[in-house]
Amino acid sequence: MKKILLTGGTGYIGSHVCIELLNKGYEVIIIDNLSNSSIKVLDCIKKITGIKPIFYDKDIRDKAALLKIFNKYSIDIVIHFAGLKSLTESINEPVNYYDNNITGTISLLAIMTQVNCHSIVFSSSATVYGKAKHIPIRENSPLSASSPYGQSKLFIERLLQDLYTSDDKWNIAILRYFNPAGAHESGLIGESPNGIPNNLFPYVAKVANGSHKRLLIFGNDYDTHDGTGVRDYIHVVDLAKGHLKALENIGTFKKVLVLNLGTGQGYSVLDIVKAFEAASKQKIPYEIVERREGDVSECYADPSLAFELLNWKAEFNLSQICNDAWNWENKSSKDYDI
Ligand code: NAD
Ligand code: UD1
Repeated sequence: MKKILLTGGTGYIGSHVCIELLNKGYEVIIIDNLSNSSIKVLDCIKKITGIKPIFYDKDIRDKAALLKIFNKYSIDIVIHFAGLKSLTESINEPVNYYDNNITGTISLLAIMTQVNCHSIVFSSSATVYGKAKHIPIRENSPLSASSPYGQSKLFIERLLQDLYTSDDKWNIAILRYFNPAGAHESGLIGESPNGIPNNLFPYVAKVANGSHKRLLIFGNDYDTHDGTGVRDYIHVVDLAKGHLKALENIGTFKKVLVLNLGTGQGYSVLDIVKAFEAASKQKIPYEIVERREGDVSECYADPSLAFELLNWKAEFNLSQICNDAWNWENKSSKDYDI
């Protein structure tokens, strides 16, 4: 069975992809510097799958460490999750973000070239669409970035395109995630952000369990059905399954595969509040405040290309996302505080 290297594999999305891969019989090797995840994830993966993945506490900028790992395992395909992901933090720490995300990726690609490993799936983001004119967003929508985080994703996408142009033996898939949410049904792994969460789902979960008093809703004067921002929330397990489809098909398209991974369905902040109240049976107090700088009014995917090319589509609905996010919040989230 193929050997898959996950950079950033103990993180939120990587750990869910790891479970799907192990369940399908792939051999998984993880490199993660644990800057935004916990080593405890490995035991939870073992509880769920019966297998503890091979793990290296290493930074992907450490080329010597990468080379040793590639030489030891003859990796077939890399899924590259490792990176810093907070848009707000990236504005305050641009050097750190560019160094981690771009230098890290260059280091990885240099070693992959050296060892003749030419297959990579890259975690990109809907943030590369900036303020899209046409919703739902298709992959050929114009690209732009308003933050160092977004710029780093755009740069890496461009680098991967250039790499393919330079040598078409590369097999490259770029997956643009919309808003991953929810958790594995076991409640053993999920999203565990450092400090006060920036993103809606982890914040709402903390309000529902009483750790935060109320949700601040960033604006209710957008041009949407109830005035609050609309996004495409995708269950993290659906997202993980999309990676497996990409792996299975990598190299069959004779071009860099660029795909949206979203549901195609937009929900507002108030829709999420209602759905989470139903899942948690808790009241979620909120207050409407100013818009958050950089936010767009609505952002949701046209996911039809992923269905056409990979036969993949999201299966979980919003209520299942909320149930699993709430189960995780109650069962394990607090044990993961880094
Ligand atoms: P995460 O922070 O949970 O996981 C990223 C992992 O990478 C962490 O475990 C961290 O410790 C590790 N890491 C960071 N820099 C590293 C380095 N230099 N060397 C080794 N390990 C390093 O984030 P996530 O939500 O799982 O996101 C995974 C990828 O998906 C990221 O590239 C992110 O930008 C992208 N993405 C995430 C979202 C989202 O909402 N979660 C949306 C779009 C795109
Ligand atoms: C944000 C990032 C995006 C990144 C994604 C995943 C911004 C502007 N964008 O996307 O680049 O890829 O996270 O990490 O930060 N909201 C509230 N109150 C809150 C939190 C959020 O009202 O406390 C609203 C937001 O205004 C938005 C929606 O909830 O309308 C979703 O926000 P969030 O979860 O932060 O995701 P994005 O803004 O889509």
